[in-house]
Amino acid sequence: MNNHHIISATDLNKDFDSLQVVKGVNLDVNKGEFVAIVGKSGSGKTTLLSLLSGLERPSSGRVILDGRDITDSSENELALFRRDTVGFVFQSFHLIPTLSAWENVALPLFPVKISAEKRRERALELLRQMEMEHRAEHRPSTLSGGEKQRVAIARALINNPKIVFADEPTGNLDSATTDAILEILKCLHADNGLSLVMVTHDLDLAESSDRIIRMQDGEVLS
Ligand SMILES: Nc1ncnc2c1ncn2[C@@H]1O[C@H](COP(=O)(O)OP(=O)(O)OP(=O)(O)O)[C@@H](O)[C@H]1O
Ligand SMILES: [Mg+2]
Repeated sequence: MNNHHIISATDLNKDFDSLQVVKGVNLDVNKGEFVAIVGKSGSGKTTLLSLLSGLERPSSGRVILDGRDITDSSENELALFRRDTVGFVFQSFHLIPTLSAWENVALPLFPVKISAEKRRERALELLRQMEMEHRAEHRPSTLSGGEKQRVAIARALINNPKIVFADEPTGNLDSATTDAILEILKCLHADNGLSLVMVTHDLDLAESSDRIIRMQDGEVLS
């Protein structure tokens, strides 16, 4: 670990009962780096992402995220730290159906002590960046797939994270929409020095990353 690393994972293992899903992974990600993770279905990509981001705890091994050992932290500490440091974008969007687009974007701000008006302003600002301001009052069910994903990206960014984890963020989108979403993510990375760790099946995308990590049967191939 040195202070150029946003993530430093050492000898990471994750078992589900007798099934070893992540095996002895060592991985450093530099600040501002864009890392693509590729590998067959079932090779452990999503599981690795949840370990690196503190969504799940490893069976053994260590993860240092932005200088903090997250394998040592209590659930509460971890939740707060995640909220302030990390953004997530999922393949299936994970938007709350009963909330409008802007309310979905503002959701991670609810535990933060800021006024309702500020929350709304900040959410609208992010929707504007995603060219989605005109859909701010829409429920997710009335949005297209690409629009939903832009809302989800805005939500991932609302706490100014240092790192964004994206798990096949374009898996449910057509190719034109995929290109638009990837352009947004790449710009965020290039303009804001955001670190980006993205699982993808898209080889073109993987090739535009700084580094490709290949997973096979729970291991990272060197
Ligand atoms: N909670 C769990 N309990 C038991 N087994 C699990 C659990 N989560 C994942 N697995 C198993 O771990 C393996 C890796 O799953 P993971 O979701 O990480 O794969 P993946 O590489 O993301 O696959 P895909 O490309 O299909 O999303 C799979 O065999 C899966 O069945
Ligand atoms: Mg997966």
